[in-house]
Amino acid sequence: MSTEPWLADIRVSYDTVAGSYADQVRGFLDEAPYVRAVLALFVELVQASGGGLVADVGCGPGQITEHLHRLGAEVFGLDLSPGMIEVAQRDHPGLRFEVGSMTDLRLADASLAGLVAWYSLIHIPDNEIGVVFAQFRRVLRPDGLLLVGFHIGDTPLLKTQGYGGHPMKVYVHRRRLAHVEAWLEEHGFAVEAQVTLSSRDGAPAGILVARRQPAVPDI
Ligand SMILES: C[S@@+](CC[C@H](N)C(=O)[O-])C[C@H]1O[C@@H](n2cnc3c(N)ncnc32)[C@H](O)[C@@H]1O
Repeated sequence: MSTEPWLADIRVSYDTVAGSYADQVRGFLDEAPYVRAVLALFVELVQASGGGLVADVGCGPGQITEHLHRLGAEVFGLDLSPGMIEVAQRDHPGLRFEVGSMTDLRLADASLAGLVAWYSLIHIPDNEIGVVFAQFRRVLRPDGLLLVGFHIGDTPLLKTQGYGGHPMKVYVHRRRLAHVEAWLEEHGFAVEAQVTLSSRDGAPAGILVARRQPAVPDI
């Protein structure tokens, strides 16, 4: 496991808030029909491509993993925070969860039919995004599908507390849809859909569905 200080900050922060985070997001999907529609579309696309293993990377307490499972995906969750993984295993017994980092995935090349990064790329600094997208591309099989969800915005925020006032130290990188789309295209993905969801109480949600291309373009 990497000992990079920024990754250690994320791990400790989410270990601290794991229980209260799970309490806050429990039931969220019941109130989020657009998100449910995107997740259902993603599972349909994976199945139309022949099906196979899907990883929920940065799964947190596993509510999205569980939902993908209910939709029929063969899915497992992976997260940097052992505390989050413990909560995910507690709340969703029977599903597979493991500790790991998207910067260094312990998964075989081309072993995934789909990869979901739902509000987890938001903690990856710009200068590490290339490393992460290269990992995503490596573990996805040709034509494999990627779903990313993130906050739309221009500036990073330093979050020093959250989920009931617990101490945290994580940067939340809010990004433009076109910016993330361009990064994905540079790293050998073809973006097939862009969705923006407005939000009453925070940054809007940006959602991209992309497919792994046979080759990384020469730029
Ligand atoms: C805002 S939470 C989102 C959790 C979940 N996807 C959800 O929608 O509720 C961000 C999650 O990303 C995880 N994370 C951050 N950096 C990561 C990394 N390098 N590898 C794996 N998980 C990471 C955190 O531990 C945390 O659980």
